[in-house]
Amino acid sequence: MNLPIRPRRLRKSAEIRDLVRENSVTPQDLVQPLFVIDGSGPAEEIASMPGQRRLTISQLVAECRELYEAGIRGVALFPKLDARLKDPRGTEALSKKTLILRAVRAVKAAVPKLLLFTDIALDPYTSHGHDGVLTEDGSDVDNDATVEILCKMALLHAEAGVDFVAPSDMMDGRIGAIRAALDATGYEGTGLLAYSAKFSSAYYGPFRDAVGSASAAGTTLLNKDTYQLDPANARAAAREVALDEAEGADIVMVKPAGPYLDILRQTRTATNLPVAAYQVSGEYSQIVAAAQMGWLDRERTRDESLLAIKRAGADIILSYFAGEIARQGV
Ligand code: PBG
Repeated sequence: MNLPIRPRRLRKSAEIRDLVRENSVTPQDLVQPLFVIDGSGPAEEIASMPGQRRLTISQLVAECRELYEAGIRGVALFPKLDARLKDPRGTEALSKKTLILRAVRAVKAAVPKLLLFTDIALDPYTSHGHDGVLTEDGSDVDNDATVEILCKMALLHAEAGVDFVAPSDMMDGRIGAIRAALDATGYEGTGLLAYSAKFSSAYYGPFRDAVGSASAAGTTLLNKDTYQLDPANARAAAREVALDEAEGADIVMVKPAGPYLDILRQTRTATNLPVAAYQVSGEYSQIVAAAQMGWLDRERTRDESLLAIKRAGADIILSYFAGEIARQGV
């Protein structure tokens, strides 16, 4: 064939492919989500997320030290509370001795340079599993009353030493309100990672099992449609990102990641802020489950899934695969 243009020349050898590769994922890009429990018992396996465990505070500290040494820069901490501590108003979230605050202090004392992100939302604390308090007739989450509580919660987390508070609740106006609350109390240095484009997704199922918000609510299919985004809507996501940026977010996030690569790309184009993506529990578990069945190659699928998220525009990826990738020394 008379064919002067042959793109395959650039794919001829591993060396050429290395040289022309456009994107890569390194441990420095990754944040590991971790689940914490009280007590001094053994770590608890999370049935719906094979390979992920709920850790006691001392196990968490050891894990964080290892992750930092392996090159991970940050972890996102989620508490799983004893059901007896939950009530409809999520009162435990504002207790000064609550599990997450003790966990943050312990990790900060032991591994001060590891960046800590904590979720600001009430779902681990409410008996109904919603991210906020309900309106009087119980038919919806009360936006403004919830924002007030989240501001107090964010202050407690800032005081305990987190690097970034991460509101994941999708209430209107919470980024601006939390920023103002932090600034008014001397925490202008505490960052805000906003879960800006958070969709009402079935992919959160295993996480709700991990933190127990599903069992509190009696179903993993807890319906959060009045606050989380409609999966059909890209323009609504753009609006949320723009609002969070205007309200003072330092980093904006898209969640889930893999099924929402178009949203990631549009977010990357729309803002100069760092963009984070959360490869959520269901994305993790579907790869792990298919690999366990022998239907997918675990490592190659894992790496491809993360590369796709990076390529679409993520600077930072929260992923349950973070630790294993760092330890593997990619
Ligand atoms: C709740 C929260 C959720 C996740 C992170 N924070 C679940 C939800 O909104 O019900 C999901 C993370 C995952 O699935 O890995 N505020």
